[in-house]
Order: sequence, then structure tokens, then C-alpha cells
Amino acid sequence: APSLTYPAVKVANLSQVKTGQPIIFNYPDASAPAILVKLGRPAIGGVGKDRDIVAFSALCTHMGCPVQYEKGRFICRCHYSMFDPAKAGQTYQGLASSWLPQIPLRIDGKGDIYAVAVAGLIWGRVKNV
Ligand code: FES
Repeated sequence: APSLTYPAVKVANLSQVKTGQPIIFNYPDASAPAILVKLGRPAIGGVGKDRDIVAFSALCTHMGCPVQYEKGRFICRCHYSMFDPAKAGQTYQGLASSWLPQIPLRIDGKGDIYAVAVAGLIWGRVKNV
């Protein structure tokens, strides 16, 4: 099968990332909201020296409402689905049955953090790119 071609998009520099303070961005295109956050604890797929910086699609996999980062997890206020950002977006409460798609990150030598792919299908799409 042909592989998807994702853009590498700069999200932020390490110097701008503070524990527990999410950064909103769009990826892989302008109509796909996403959230980067430094969790303060190691995460699956986490980058940075503490392996705790992760990013996810901000669209709930149940019906596409926006999720918010709060108290260490992602929560959707439409029907209260919750997703664990340290466990690759695993859903653990609520109506969503699919995990929140994780956005793999890379950091270059200047500390710039790039989004480079999407693991899983963004809500409402038949393909991500
Ligand atoms: Fe998020 Fe229903 S849209 S739980």
C-alpha cells in the first residue's frame, strides 16, 4: 500500500514548553486542531530529556468535539470521554471507543519540536492527508 506523506511542521521550541501548559496547533493541516503538552511524567512516544512531551489530535474520537488538557488527561465535555496522554491516547472513560490519535514528535539540534505524523485516524476523516 502507498505510505502516507506527512509534512514536518514546527510546533514550538523546547524553551517555550512548560509542564502542564498545553500549546494549541494545527496538524497535518489548518482544519485539524491538535495539542502539545509536557506532562511532567514519562509517556509512550514522549520526547525531550524527560520523555514527557507529547501531542495529540484535539478532536474527540466519539463525535469530534474538542478535547481539553486538564489534570493530566484529555477530557471531552460533550459526553465526558477521557484519554490518557501517557498511554498513547488510550480511552478509559466515556463513549469514545477509539484512542485519541497521537502525533509523533521530533526535536532538532536547536530544540525546535516538529510534528511529523499522525498515529490513527483523525475524527471525521477518511484519511489524514
Ligand atoms: Fe467526545 Fe462524545 S464527542 S465524548
